[in-house]
Amino acid sequence: MERTHFNGTLTKENIGQDVVLVGWVSKWRNLGSLLFIDLRDRSGIIQVVVRRASENNDPSFQAPECPDVRNEYVVQVFGKVEAKAVENKALKTGAIEVVASKVVLINKAQTTPLIIDDETDALEDVRLKYRYLDLRRPVMQERLITRAKIVKAFHEYLDENGFLEIETPLLTLSTPGGARDFLVPSRVHPGHFYALPQSPQIFKQLFMIGGLERYYQIARCFRDEDLRADRQPDFTQVDIEMSFLDQDQVLTLMEGALAKVFKTVKGIDLKLPLRRLEYLEAVNRYGSDKPDTRYGFELQDVHPLFTESAFEAFKTASSIKAVVVPGIAKATSRKVLDELNLIARKYHLKGVTPLKVEGGVLTGSFTKFLSEKETQGLFKALSLKEDDLVILAGGSDNTDVCFALGAIRIYFAKSLNLIKPNTFDLLWVVHFPLFEINDAGKLVSAHHQFTRPCQEDLPLLDSDPIKVFAQAFDIVINGYEAGGGSMRIYDHDVQYKIFEVLGMSEEDIKKQFGFFIDAFNYGTPPHGGLAFGLDRLAMILSGTDNIRDVIAFPKNLASVCPLTKAPGTVEPKQTEELSIAITKMEKDS
Ligand code: AMO
Repeated sequence: MERTHFNGTLTKENIGQDVVLVGWVSKWRNLGSLLFIDLRDRSGIIQVVVRRASENNDPSFQAPECPDVRNEYVVQVFGKVEAKAVENKALKTGAIEVVASKVVLINKAQTTPLIIDDETDALEDVRLKYRYLDLRRPVMQERLITRAKIVKAFHEYLDENGFLEIETPLLTLSTPGGARDFLVPSRVHPGHFYALPQSPQIFKQLFMIGGLERYYQIARCFRDEDLRADRQPDFTQVDIEMSFLDQDQVLTLMEGALAKVFKTVKGIDLKLPLRRLEYLEAVNRYGSDKPDTRYGFELQDVHPLFTESAFEAFKTASSIKAVVVPGIAKATSRKVLDELNLIARKYHLKGVTPLKVEGGVLTGSFTKFLSEKETQGLFKALSLKEDDLVILAGGSDNTDVCFALGAIRIYFAKSLNLIKPNTFDLLWVVHFPLFEINDAGKLVSAHHQFTRPCQEDLPLLDSDPIKVFAQAFDIVINGYEAGGGSMRIYDHDVQYKIFEVLGMSEEDIKKQFGFFIDAFNYGTPPHGGLAFGLDRLAMILSGTDNIRDVIAFPKNLASVCPLTKAPGTVEPKQTEELSIAITKMEKDS
């Protein structure tokens, strides 16, 4: 099809040139003698003018051929670029317009169920049902362009640094330890299932044992877990593994990749090396293992002040921390304080204790428990000033206390609008615990079972495994976990020991990981790696807080694709072939 330029690339330089353009009618105004069309393609919008009457009654004037146009009609425009009398500052091409000599209709469109513009009032499920129309919105195209640029930057950087792009199977073995698997029944082996990979973790380690040294993959991963604004059941990782490097070298190489991404996509020069924050410091100072350090309200330890407290819960607490929010005491309502209590309850605390500095003294119902010494202690320890709001939290578990105040810290940063758009805060959180206790009270891996324990903690594996720290790290951007990884165990016996500590029997280990642990007997190099969450990176760099905005065809929060309606039912013949009996069936909505 004849086309000379992309619409959004035309500038004053093109004035006087004949052009042939194509695109969608974004807007049109019929003023009788003049028809204006805003013509949109992926590169942007240009105004087209169709003059249908002579300006000076010229008898030789012939109106250009032009069909009736409506929004979203696809047209081809032949014309000449001219300067506009009055510039339209809202358009990138607003200084010029194309005066049409002919407009050709390529295809018609019905009235669209959503407005094709950056601003749209359509509900998200409508946008997802008509995703192909939603994708026409310039803001959506911009997000997918950002995503593609991120991928390209990774490809370039990893290639330059000797990484090989290699694929791993999508039909693989279900392994315990992570989220729930998506299973795929085998037809030829009745009763047997493949699992879709939660990540290529085992395979990339086998690549290292296979001597490939540096691997990467833009890897599709599948996890059947509760969805959130930053989670999808199928998502994409930039998955990386490398041999013969220590943790410091891995982090240095990987922050180089991020520097390339930020430079390519945002034109931003990251200051390297990135800050490295120990897990315990992150939790104790920011109340989070993925802190956003663009704002203050750091947690402060006030436990020593309350050893003799008249408030029983504080006297017996093993941790008491404070957050001070300056200048808002007077303006803080009961409703806000109630919300803070709700947040605290999510972290197993009964509530928080608010205090205000008003008229030079502390106020609040808790003051009846405060001795003069404690009051003075708080003023001094927290450097309190007039109109400060102090939130105290105490409890028997330091992590709960910190995480509750960490969530309160985020609450105030958001409600006080402290987070400037287009600012980026990157840091590594390092030295994570190797294990954690899950909701069912069971010891589980904090990262995954292949993570290398810190050498000095190895003796604790038998005596007190929860105290063992790991050579694991997360890259945190603006309070999101944008990636995570670890150095791996490369010793057969240590790997076996970890499976045992996790409560696996000899038989389980053999059945589920036998092939993997066997490989350790044939010369395993020291190795480590990480996976960046591509969707999360694209989300952060696009300035949105919804992961679905940067995925072309995402699932909604009910794990349904509103466009295709997946998941769907199948013909009885199909389940029969798979030797599967359906015992419970949801009605189609
Ligand atoms: P992990 O489970 O931490 O590590 O995942 C790595 C990164 O992937 C992203 N991510 C997700 N993004 C969207 N939706 C999800 N459901 C989702 N789950 C995870 C996050 C996360 O930091 N194999 C290891 C990596 C390694 O050790 O090399 C792994 O998968 O940004």
